[in-house]
Amino acid sequence: MKPLISPSLLAADFTKLGIELESIRNADWAHMDVMDNHFVPNLAIGEPADRAIVEASPIPVDAHLMIEDPDRWAPKYAEMGCKSVTFHAEAAQAPIRLARELRGMGVRAGLALRPATDIEAYVDILGEFDMLLVMTVEPGFGGQSFLESMLPKIRRTRAAIEKAGLETWIQVDGGVGRANITLAAEAGANNFVAGSSVFNAEDAYAEVEALRKLAEAHTHCR
Ligand code: DX5
Ligand code: ZN
Repeated sequence: MKPLISPSLLAADFTKLGIELESIRNADWAHMDVMDNHFVPNLAIGEPADRAIVEASPIPVDAHLMIEDPDRWAPKYAEMGCKSVTFHAEAAQAPIRLARELRGMGVRAGLALRPATDIEAYVDILGEFDMLLVMTVEPGFGGQSFLESMLPKIRRTRAAIEKAGLETWIQVDGGVGRANITLAAEAGANNFVAGSSVFNAEDAYAEVEALRKLAEAHTHCR
């Protein structure tokens, strides 16, 4: 399981998204945050702009739905061409049914957990998902500080995945950068969302490489 770097477009310059997408062409995934001003107190650009991003992206798009009613919206993001669609455990009415629907459409299904949502309730259904997203900030805004208090949850999630003999990815999202990517990798994460740290860097392409090297040196997933 090689470490994967997923820059969050929320920190990109929205007036030149095509150029920003090209600047991270060496990344594994383009992380696209979708927010509805209900599940989180912030609104992101809507469906037409999201569709344009998916069409313009040189790398696969990973949609992170921070919205109410993902049961209704997540399949639309799969249809749009996102290769991975992650919805929140706290918002989904029927997470198993939704994950099966997404997988049936040929996309990776992800389950996201807010910081105060524990993994234990989901241990028996881990096999329904391709990825667990352990939020390392309260969702809604870029530029917040990484919550080191989430490291034990990452460790417990990795242990549960290994115990079940699964290959499920663990993504971390929020405040990830050079200062803490090694901690998240050591704890068992293998997919790293990085918004501000990549797009505020002098050279986004070089920052992706730097983060990948750090994660590779500290990964515990081989
Ligand atoms: C936060 C979003 C993140 C955010 C990450 O709610 O889900 O994807 O854009 O940005 P940084 O890396 O700046 O915390
Ligand atoms: Zn996100």
